[in-house]
Amino acid sequence: MRTIVLFAMSLFPVLCASAADVDRRIDDLIARMTLQEKLGQMSQSTSLKTPLSDAMKAEIRAGRWGSFLNAGDAKDRAEAQRIATEETRLKIPLIFGRDVIHGYQTVFPIPLGQAATWDPDLVRQAAREAAREAAADRIAWTFAPMIDIARDPRWGRIAESLGEDPYLASQLGAAMVRGFQGDSLAAPDSLAACAKHYAGYGAVEGGRDYNSAWIPEILLRDVYLRPFQAARKAGVATFMTAFNTLNAVPATADPFLLRDILRGEWNYDGMVVSDYEAVTNLIAHGYALDAREAARKSIRAGVEMEMVSTSFYDHAPDLLRAGEITMKEIDDSVRDILRLKFRLGLFDRRPLPPAPDHSRALVIAEKAAEESVVLLRNDKNVLPLSKSVEKLAVIGPLADSPVDQMGTWSMDGRADFVRTPLAALREMLGADRVIYARGLINSRNHSRAGFDRAVRAARDADAVVLFLGEEAILSGEARSRAFLNLPGAQEALVDAIAATGKPIAAVILAGRPLTFHDAATKIPAILYSFHPGAMGGPAIARLLFGDASPSGKLPVTFPRTVGQVPIYYAHLNTGRPPLPSDLGVPMGNPANPQGYTSKYIDVDYTPEYPFGFGLSYANFQYSPAELSSNTLPPGGRLRITAQVANSGRRASDEVVQLYTSGPLGGSVARPVRELKGFRRVHLEPGASTKVEFTITTADLAYYNPKMQLVTEPGPYRAWIAPDSASGAAVSFEVTK
Ligand code: GLC
Repeated sequence: MRTIVLFAMSLFPVLCASAADVDRRIDDLIARMTLQEKLGQMSQSTSLKTPLSDAMKAEIRAGRWGSFLNAGDAKDRAEAQRIATEETRLKIPLIFGRDVIHGYQTVFPIPLGQAATWDPDLVRQAAREAAREAAADRIAWTFAPMIDIARDPRWGRIAESLGEDPYLASQLGAAMVRGFQGDSLAAPDSLAACAKHYAGYGAVEGGRDYNSAWIPEILLRDVYLRPFQAARKAGVATFMTAFNTLNAVPATADPFLLRDILRGEWNYDGMVVSDYEAVTNLIAHGYALDAREAARKSIRAGVEMEMVSTSFYDHAPDLLRAGEITMKEIDDSVRDILRLKFRLGLFDRRPLPPAPDHSRALVIAEKAAEESVVLLRNDKNVLPLSKSVEKLAVIGPLADSPVDQMGTWSMDGRADFVRTPLAALREMLGADRVIYARGLINSRNHSRAGFDRAVRAARDADAVVLFLGEEAILSGEARSRAFLNLPGAQEALVDAIAATGKPIAAVILAGRPLTFHDAATKIPAILYSFHPGAMGGPAIARLLFGDASPSGKLPVTFPRTVGQVPIYYAHLNTGRPPLPSDLGVPMGNPANPQGYTSKYIDVDYTPEYPFGFGLSYANFQYSPAELSSNTLPPGGRLRITAQVANSGRRASDEVVQLYTSGPLGGSVARPVRELKGFRRVHLEPGASTKVEFTITTADLAYYNPKMQLVTEPGPYRAWIAPDSASGAAVSFEVTK
């Protein structure tokens, strides 16, 4: 009880301070700050090492830095904060930032895996637990959520994204903001969140990281900016600018993004930080002649804190003297930085939160892992396996690799928290009934020296679970791939194990969609797990043996081959859409080129698996959707319903999806479908439920060539479906 009272009392000063009080305190501070102190606040360093050096202590004492990222340990941060709040002239606290992307000590599925849950509240809970653990280590700011729309699986950072769809990414990104920031930023267990990377980073050409992004404004607004606007509406405390150029202007010096849209249209009052040395990267972009010009262009555009590079501190005094920047620009940046620190309670000696409850976090991590796994194939109902299996062969290096299971950006992840699939299967069946063979040293390994043992394990077993995919180091930042195949000799391993004729199920762990068309023809059952985090083992074991049913849905389209990329569901129809006769093309063989439609002559134009796709152990039937009306007047709303039944023998969750398209005949061509809603339902065998969505004209809005957000009259369609490629459309008219 005492802890709770102290905890509540600690919030008192900040919660009582009105915005006006805070502004007055900020104005007073700014009036007293020297230029060096102001520029110190605008500077973030990664150089706080363990132990804190005397030189760094002296710099902190002199007000050289306002923030540190990914630096030191909790003890160092405590000492640095003590110096800042007791030994500096103005006692301005530091803010410690860190990449708490999908968990801190307890690692949850990578964001792409959390997106596969389509479960905003679970995603919020995971972020909440991550905040509790990080805040206990004196972190007050996370560089998450990463809400770049990603439609190119060659891009390694698709792993950190929430997928290809702006509606899904908006819902989940906002949920992460709410989770990280909690009910009050001032609460000791809250983190300031950071909407990144603003903007257009996911559209880098060729899927090559840090490359150029060319996005027409209509697409920028309709797709790439929507999750950032949702994060803004959710109250995200900070934004981070992206490395890439957007239409030839680096996002870290783009007044269109930072002033016109973020401050002008969205009226944002949070703080903007650059990405890591992105300010001085302007020189390599050819956009700045030197660090002085980089500082000028970045400050003028609206970047307020410089991450790691020091061009602001080094050159702003001269730029001010030359009249190339104004003191108002400096003061506005410092104001936003100080307001963030006030909002976090840092000026009121933000206390440590109660010790985090890792067991609670691990329960949420298991649920998230379980909901994140997508069942892609289950021919002849190979899955779920029977627990009466005498001997189970578990094959593949990823079956027992804690670091890989945690995925990219898990630098604080505790490997001792990780339960691998191998350990979980041994615990479930008994170690004597599980035969393990790595087959390969790691996912990139080409040596077949381990094949014999793996084949023997399969031959000695009644069933085989083959773990395939990517190590964690093959996705994430600067990990773009030009091929999407299973790395190393994995495909040969599939052939060797398939040749034994044993019943096989595969579990693919990866940081992106991979292409495994041929392997899939040899494996009747495939579970796909975007690096599932600490509790991936128990989750996968429960799903393999039917203690739970898969319910994950793909947040991103899976191509048949990398040559189809970019491939995504919400595409335009083109003037010569493909015909059904354009299907059935032999993979990689332009045997019979014909026709004049938008297709390939050497692979089907359709994806391997579409956005929103995911099977379960149930058997869901959807009735045709029904509309409350066939017309929708401006400002109106209509209801769309469908009956969803489970005619199978097993219970399962199902993520029911609402798509719309239209109008035909408007001022722009519109995508063939766009996600507008989703609902997770649970159905026991034989049960059914009526699922209802509401559609308003605002839900249907899009940008016209004049950059006006409109919902033009005309014919529209809607689907209630299990994925983006299924379901029967119903039509309605938006009237004038
Ligand atoms: C990295 C990433 C960014 C991260 C930052 C701090 O380069 O682009 O997402 O938050 O630097 O580590």
